[in-house]
Amino acid sequence: MKFLVTGGAGFIGQHVVRELMVRGHEVRVLDSLRPDVHRDLDWRPPSGADFIHADVRDAKALEPALEGVDAVIHLAAKVGLGVDISDTPDYVSSNDFATAELLAAMARTKVGRLTLASSMVAYGEGVGRCEKHGETRPGPRLESAMANGQFDPPCPTCGMPLADLLVTEDVPVDPRNVYATTKVAQEFLAGNWARSTGGAVASMRYHNVYGPGMPRDTPYAGVAAIFLSALRRNEAPRVFEDGRQRRDFIHVRDIAAATVLAAEGHVFGVRAFNVGSGTPRTVGEMAFALARALDGPTPVVTGAFRLGDVRHITADSSRLRAEFHWEPRTTFEDGMRELATGSTGSDPVIKEG
Ligand code: UD1
Repeated sequence: MKFLVTGGAGFIGQHVVRELMVRGHEVRVLDSLRPDVHRDLDWRPPSGADFIHADVRDAKALEPALEGVDAVIHLAAKVGLGVDISDTPDYVSSNDFATAELLAAMARTKVGRLTLASSMVAYGEGVGRCEKHGETRPGPRLESAMANGQFDPPCPTCGMPLADLLVTEDVPVDPRNVYATTKVAQEFLAGNWARSTGGAVASMRYHNVYGPGMPRDTPYAGVAAIFLSALRRNEAPRVFEDGRQRRDFIHVRDIAAATVLAAEGHVFGVRAFNVGSGTPRTVGEMAFALARALDGPTPVVTGAFRLGDVRHITADSSRLRAEFHWEPRTTFEDGMRELATGSTGSDPVIKEG
């Protein structure tokens, strides 16, 4: 098949391009090489792939980019929590306006299959179980509670602690920050496109992705990259809250494999897929594992917090496993070791001309 990969020069994109090529597909990358993410403005794709240096918002670039394409993998986005609320227009423009242009161009060129990079943050605080009130959806965390060190969102009815449950794709979305809102809007826009054109959409709700090529030292760096950079400077990782917030750290090669399987196999209707390793860790655990692997300074749990952060993000990815026979292959321990040693295993440095 021939795929257009938007954001194919990015962290996840480079691994997806490689996986597509390994599986014998033709690939065209469209990427703006936005300077707030890419330092290497001379980036070129692996040999054999085409490259269009353009922004997804540029409608004129999209029609030639879509020519002869069977399916699109749309990864180009502005990620992370951003700096503050003044980032909102750029998030909406980069993520939602861009997706609207892409969908309109796909309708014009009759390209009917889309795989979309979405996120687990779409679920907000997810689902908890209260001993008294059963399954419930926690409300937004209050600044005053967090300032008192109460980081876990309580039962909205009685204020008692909640046991964390794994979120399935059927749990309604509840975005709690601007980035999450733009990801949810992308999913809905794609759903609208699918209904009016008969197209197929697979929305990949990624967990916390780490691995070779992670963005570093940019406002878009995830926590694993931030801790790794600190340890490389021989500084202690600074763990926010009490360090017990849970995430599911998933290796980028597993993310790429999941994305390509869905892009190949999802041919009808609108479907969301959680993509996680299935073994949640706390952010504190990750900091200590990485510090041990690098033989670096002991992490410091600071109690500081960011208001837009969700407390726990842990999902059930059994739909993806069942429908596409996908299995994550890199364990947390191996992935942390790989980060620490800088070894990229069988990964080429994906930057050849
Ligand atoms: C991350 C991704 C987001 C993705 C989501 C999927 C980034 C920046 N964000 O969001 O794109 O959609 O996973 O689940 O890659 N923390 C510290 N110390 C720090 C920085 C962060 O302790 O120096 C903590 C945060 O408070 C938070 C956790 O680490 O509790 C994870 O933060 P982060 O990686 O920024 O983002 P997520 O919200 O998990």
